[in-house]
Amino acid sequence: MSSGEEQRVFIKSYGCQMNVYDADRMGELLASHGYRAVDTPDAADLVILNTCHIREKAAEKVYSEIGRLRSMNAERKGSGRAAATLAVAGCVAQAEGEAMLSRAPAIDLIVGPQTYHRLPALLDRVAKGERGVVDTDFPETTKFKHLPKRAQQPLTAFLTVQEGCDKFCTFCVVPYTRGAEVSRPVAEIVAEAQRLVRTGARELTLLGQNVNAYHGTDETGKEVGLAALCYRLASIEGLERLRYTTSHPRDMSDDLIAAHRDLPELMPYLHLPVQAGSDRILKKMNRQHTAENYLRLIEQIRKARPDIALSSDFIVGFPGETDEDFEATLALIRQVGFAQSFSFKYSPRPGTPAADMPPVDEAVSAARLQILQALLREQQQRFAAQLVGRTLPVLFEKAGRHAGQLAGRSPYLHPVQAEAPESLIGQIADVAILEAVSNSLTGALAAQRAEPRRAFA
Ligand code: 5AD
Ligand code: SF4
Repeated sequence: MSSGEEQRVFIKSYGCQMNVYDADRMGELLASHGYRAVDTPDAADLVILNTCHIREKAAEKVYSEIGRLRSMNAERKGSGRAAATLAVAGCVAQAEGEAMLSRAPAIDLIVGPQTYHRLPALLDRVAKGERGVVDTDFPETTKFKHLPKRAQQPLTAFLTVQEGCDKFCTFCVVPYTRGAEVSRPVAEIVAEAQRLVRTGARELTLLGQNVNAYHGTDETGKEVGLAALCYRLASIEGLERLRYTTSHPRDMSDDLIAAHRDLPELMPYLHLPVQAGSDRILKKMNRQHTAENYLRLIEQIRKARPDIALSSDFIVGFPGETDEDFEATLALIRQVGFAQSFSFKYSPRPGTPAADMPPVDEAVSAARLQILQALLREQQQRFAAQLVGRTLPVLFEKAGRHAGQLAGRSPYLHPVQAEAPESLIGQIADVAILEAVSNSLTGALAAQRAEPRRAFA
């Protein structure tokens, strides 16, 4: 890779929003080293797969993609073109490291989520002919210190404030792949947020594997939690909306709940995974809370912010899950009423405690997942249907589906289409919701203001 010549990079990201953030940072870093982003692997000199290790399916996808890229490279060589450099980043890179090279020797470079700021140097080594370069360290100084300043932003931007997890749920690889919980200092986050807002962001989503466990140090050396951080960020002129994800019930502190009541910038939407509704299973999962704890917590949160919409993750078929346990999960879902949820069949992950527990029959898990998803879908539709006839503040982001329409987001993350002048892009306007189709809403600019916080039925 001779410097001076323009190189082209294609980055594909799998999995969670933290990976999206990392992929964007890698793109920016490489852009500052002369790489231009392209839309297809075939147009690229460098292909980066930013991988996810959370479930087996996600991890396996990487190997099939590498297989495809290997054939692409063979074809390119056959027609006299140079092969693309293949780099694997993200959580599979971190978890499997060097072992990936024996399974997929076509990989040129493996880089973990904490060391991708070293990509230019690592790529130089590949360019000099080194085979199978691997860097999956957890370095002393964080990548954030070494990444270039972010340029023009979309209206909504992600901002990683915390990484890693100390909870050790027995099914989860995150504490192993992303390591121990680390919070970025307040000043660093505020500076990044200010830059994002200055360059166009109106909404920020604070990211962390365990974001509400955030405990960064402020300028006076004091440790502060997520609530205090939200207050600091909300005071940035021009920042209209704040969100954070993903949270653990144990870390839903009173001051964070109070922030949902007192801080208008904090959107009335909370992703608070419960995973299961049976205490026996929650215990085996090492979730450190009961179903009752979760229900009480939801009660408190709704008291603070009656119009809050709730979302969760669920796992079915966790080792030892009986019909009765599964019924308890359905009962919890009925009791809470979720606006949106993600649900998964349990997938044993190497090295996690649950992987050694006797599995539930595959067909039983599959059937449970279908039942669970039908219930969650019904709740999601019911939630969207309740919004019809209401007026909601919508942040318009771009041109809509049809001429004259703009597309934006409701406080609850629904895509919203409404006829509106282009001048409203980047603005929040009140929209009367006329129709709900699956998860998206259509509406019309409203004459009257959005109603204050009305609870949902
Ligand atoms: N199997 C299935 N789902 C899992 N998740 C995490 N680990 C596993 C696993 N081994 C789910 C959890 C988590 C979400 C990000 O992924 O529900 O909240
Ligand atoms: Fe995984 Fe549990 Fe940590 Fe979430 S809280 S990242 S599920 S170990």
